[in-house]
Amino acid sequence: MWQCLRHFLRPRTPLLLTPGPLSTSPYVRAKMRVDYPSRDATFSALTTRIITDVRALVNGNDKTVVALLPGSGTYAIEAMLRSSVATNDHVLIIDNGAYGARIADIAAQAQLAHTRQKHDPYVSLDLSAIEEALKSNKAITHIAMTYCETSSGMLNPYESVLQLGCRYGKTLLVDAMSAFGALPLSLPRGTHAGRLVIAASANKCLEGAPGLAFVIANPQALQATSTSLSLDVQAQYAFMQKTQQFRFTPPVQVVAACAEALRRHKAEGGVDARHKRYQKNAHILIDGMQNLGFATVLQDKDLSPIIVSFHRPPALDFQAFYHALWKRGFAIYPGKLLDIDSFRVGCIGHVFPRDMHRFLRAVKASRKALAKKP
Ligand SMILES: Cc1ncc(COP(=O)(O)O)c(C=O)c1O
Repeated sequence: MWQCLRHFLRPRTPLLLTPGPLSTSPYVRAKMRVDYPSRDATFSALTTRIITDVRALVNGNDKTVVALLPGSGTYAIEAMLRSSVATNDHVLIIDNGAYGARIADIAAQAQLAHTRQKHDPYVSLDLSAIEEALKSNKAITHIAMTYCETSSGMLNPYESVLQLGCRYGKTLLVDAMSAFGALPLSLPRGTHAGRLVIAASANKCLEGAPGLAFVIANPQALQATSTSLSLDVQAQYAFMQKTQQFRFTPPVQVVAACAEALRRHKAEGGVDARHKRYQKNAHILIDGMQNLGFATVLQDKDLSPIIVSFHRPPALDFQAFYHALWKRGFAIYPGKLLDIDSFRVGCIGHVFPRDMHRFLRAVKASRKALAKKP
């Protein structure tokens, strides 16, 4: 009996200020308690609803391709590259952090012709360098970049790069993993309709569970023959359109959680409302941390409302700080960029301004406790 009860009781885990996986609402988690038969109409209705809701988020229409892929966000990025870049195409990859670098790794592994353009991860993207590359390398057909570079928290000027791409007749492949659902994203219309492909996942700003990713585009952008069987965007989408089913075993509980997360996203007020909440979280966090003596790694104009990197003060041992915060109910991330000693705090998930105020009190208490230790 006790074993059974213990099984259903949720262990006390800290609030995750680690953007992906992140803290989800109990309503989203509750949807994962049910075993759904994946070939049944009730489950098909969930996937159909997800496709409709995701289309609405990008201003799409009933022709917009939304391929649902089991897996983490990286699977969607790989599917996007392998399904939209043909053998005679060439991708300009903007690398200003660990996730930009990952796009280049995927392109290399898939043997796609590409140019990796490195940018300083700590200052805004140099748009003139991107334009210069487009002018000088006529082979380029696609540009690939991250929207929010989560490894630093840098908000990249995705809209400006999209416009640049449209002007030069190139297609933008955007890794919108940590932006989708909270930052504006809209599929172009008219002559530019095929100029954008989006990779996203359920477990970031949509506040769903990890294990479901999306590739979203107008059909004109997906003309290449995929070089992957399981990550074939067109095949996955065509099969689902025909049968209302996944080609391979879907993560049924995660899909159900995603449908609920999208419902709650809409009820909250959509992208604008979510953006506002995260922005408020970020303001409280940044002001409070600065008052406690922590400096942000990026300049104010480059900060995103998604995740913020702070310099680690030399006297602060990160592991000890991490454990002190964990004991007080919060999980944070270490820095991901290797040349600066930093740590990162996320502002997204089922996280509210009151949580940020609590976090700041925990930071203050943790520092005090660590200062007392011999
Ligand atoms: C911008 C960005 N791209 C890619 C990824 C990789 O996603 P995953 O770890 O779900 O594969 C992440 C994860 O945080 C991300 O933030």
